[in-house]
Amino acid sequence: MLRPPYDRYKRLYTYHLDLRELPEINDQDFIGGWIEDNTAIFFFHRPKERLIRELCRQQNGRIIYEADLDYSEWEAGRDLSAFTAGGLSVAPLWDTAPAEIRLDPSVIFGSGFHPTTRLCLETLLKYVESPEVSIGKTLDLGTGTGLLAIAAAKKGVADVIAVDHNSLACQVAAKNASLNGVARQIKVRQMDLRTEPLDTSGVDLVIANLYRGLLEELIATPSFWQARLYILSGFISAMEPDLLAALPARKLKFLDRKRLDRWCLWVLMR
Ligand SMILES: C[S@@+](CC[C@H](N)C(=O)[O-])C[C@H]1O[C@@H](n2cnc3c(N)ncnc32)[C@H](O)[C@@H]1O
Repeated sequence: MLRPPYDRYKRLYTYHLDLRELPEINDQDFIGGWIEDNTAIFFFHRPKERLIRELCRQQNGRIIYEADLDYSEWEAGRDLSAFTAGGLSVAPLWDTAPAEIRLDPSVIFGSGFHPTTRLCLETLLKYVESPEVSIGKTLDLGTGTGLLAIAAAKKGVADVIAVDHNSLACQVAAKNASLNGVARQIKVRQMDLRTEPLDTSGVDLVIANLYRGLLEELIATPSFWQARLYILSGFISAMEPDLLAALPARKLKFLDRKRLDRWCLWVLMR
């Protein structure tokens, strides 16, 4: 995350170490890190060879991979700037354009550049703002930067649970919720949707912008289908037949099917 003296990201220095737990790092150039597949992944604003070598010595680890890149390369070749989706304006923290949501995108998915994020944002706003659908409790599965959860809260949803298994995503989502004055409406939960049971009872809306394998597992789980409305994305059209096959036999009504580039989104009602 951005902390003084930094107010934007320029160059990223990343190190992957074969560690199973994140050691504490107190360094002003540290952006954040997480554990993925028994690998600790760290990001810094500046090169940190000495610090990383010392960490390896202390933790008995080794460097598996290291790289440095421009922030725009990390964000799919774009310089992040303000955008509007579904009538809602979003800007990164360092952009001075007026915006309803201001984000520290950090190195976490959900800055808004990706077609699935935009599709989800537009669709979420359509249903949250619809007078016919009253949305209270909402689950944002795979919240990333927290953008979708924040958009829901900004539009008046009183109870949003934002879930991610990535520890840095949870920190970034919580920071972004505070920055946007909706921290009281959003509870951030670090949770692995692959291994921990998910309770969707009493939930009005589940929004899940995930990847195909995890979506397939979730939609094949009967207890996933206790909420009222579902916005699902994160898959391309070639994956739709497998996902359709995984849907439960019981009646689900398709309210919307959208595409942006090759990315898809479904809205389902139980
Ligand atoms: C495609 S990104 C979506 C981020 C944001 N919601 C958006 O729409 O831009 C998927 C998110 O799901 C999270 N995720 C992936 N696998 C997960 C799991 N097993 N449990 C919980 N979260 C997971 C990732 O860390 C990532 O933040």
